[in-house]
Amino acid sequence: MAVTPWDVKGTIDYAKLIWEFGMQPFHELMERIPKPHKLMRRGVIFGHRDYWRIVEAINSNRSWAVMSGFMPSGNPHFGHKMTMDEIIWHQKMGAKTFVAIADIEAHVVRGMNWSKTLKLGFEYIKSLIALGLEKDSIIYFQSKNNDVKDLAIELSNEVNLSELKAIYGFTGETQLAKMFVTAIQASDILYPQLEKFNGPKPVVVPVGADQDPHLRLTRDLASRVNIYSLENIKGGLRIRSRRGTEYLDKLDCLGYEMKKFSEHVDIFGDKNEIEEKVRKIEIECGGFGFIPPSSIYHKFTTGLYGGKMSSSKPESFISLIENPKNASRKVMRAFTGGRATASEQRRYGGEPEKCVVFEMYTYHLIENDKELKEIYENCKSGKILCGQCKKLASELLEEFLKDHQEKREEAEDNLNEYEIIF
Ligand code: TRP
Ligand code: SF4
Repeated sequence: MAVTPWDVKGTIDYAKLIWEFGMQPFHELMERIPKPHKLMRRGVIFGHRDYWRIVEAINSNRSWAVMSGFMPSGNPHFGHKMTMDEIIWHQKMGAKTFVAIADIEAHVVRGMNWSKTLKLGFEYIKSLIALGLEKDSIIYFQSKNNDVKDLAIELSNEVNLSELKAIYGFTGETQLAKMFVTAIQASDILYPQLEKFNGPKPVVVPVGADQDPHLRLTRDLASRVNIYSLENIKGGLRIRSRRGTEYLDKLDCLGYEMKKFSEHVDIFGDKNEIEEKVRKIEIECGGFGFIPPSSIYHKFTTGLYGGKMSSSKPESFISLIENPKNASRKVMRAFTGGRATASEQRRYGGEPEKCVVFEMYTYHLIENDKELKEIYENCKSGKILCGQCKKLASELLEEFLKDHQEKREEAEDNLNEYEIIF
């Protein structure tokens, strides 16, 4: 198995991926999440980093945000729909919402021209709105957002080639622009914490697991551009300054019990409270005070005929804007977990865990958990056969797409009511 932002290969072992990447398993937080999304309940969202910050934010009335991005190098499909659903769920839970259209990435990495990235970018935006994105969201094209580009310059000052080689496998042949795109994405992720949006806050980034290297880099960079670095100690926090010890003197006014050393101070008291106050001082001094972003990771979408879904093979996936009848035909031809013959299937049952159709039910087509379980059991016991099962899936799909496409047309009429930087 190989998982990078540019390539996903082999059979994915998600438990192993969590371990290799140093993520946390998602289920450990489940019981603390009020009304979890179906992708959470069903283990499709399988990993996270620091999502506890978001759980705490949901259960308090502090301000927090959700942000993710889409690269406009092809039409939006059901893989993107997962990210869209996750963004919208967090918005409904109270997050300030940010969406990046990664046109710089599409231009640099995929060679798309700007008029194409502009046109495709709006296809994503229309689907987001059709799925329920609200009007107070901040939507932007990377190439038109100067704050994002400015921040990317600051961030790129903190990272060198050896590091990029280690994280992304870049070589001496890699273009500078492709390297800079990693700084742009880090900037997308930290953008919601800029002062114009009231400064530091917990931010969750819902993405596919292949995007994790970007999150690792961003979390590192976030702490490197901060003035203060904070470390847990018994009963409080140890604070260092990255810009000289005169910044440590500014902490005197906090009024906690403190021990001063030549290169750091130890402050004793409630850690969250101290952290928040130190961040405030940092902002007053012109720093960023970034909180390391949180993330959640969903599983990959399987191609209709097995293997990986690939935007260069339109037969391997269903787009959100394709003809519903055509889409329904594709499902009828999809790869299932069925047996070679009907009598074998009646005897041994099917294998829903290997079935693309069952994946469609789980990720998108069936909201009700009981209904999903029923299909699972009927498949396992050989009570239903694939023909009948696919027919139901293709009907649900056709219905969904018709409705979605109608809503997309409405969205097109209402685009001017959204704040979009393009
Ligand atoms: N690189 C992402 C992709 O290929 C798109 C993206 C751009 C993104 N900026 C982002 C994702 C910020 C999450 C957060 O799909
Ligand atoms: Fe998949 Fe349905 Fe066939 Fe089971 S019966 S293998 S869920 S298509």
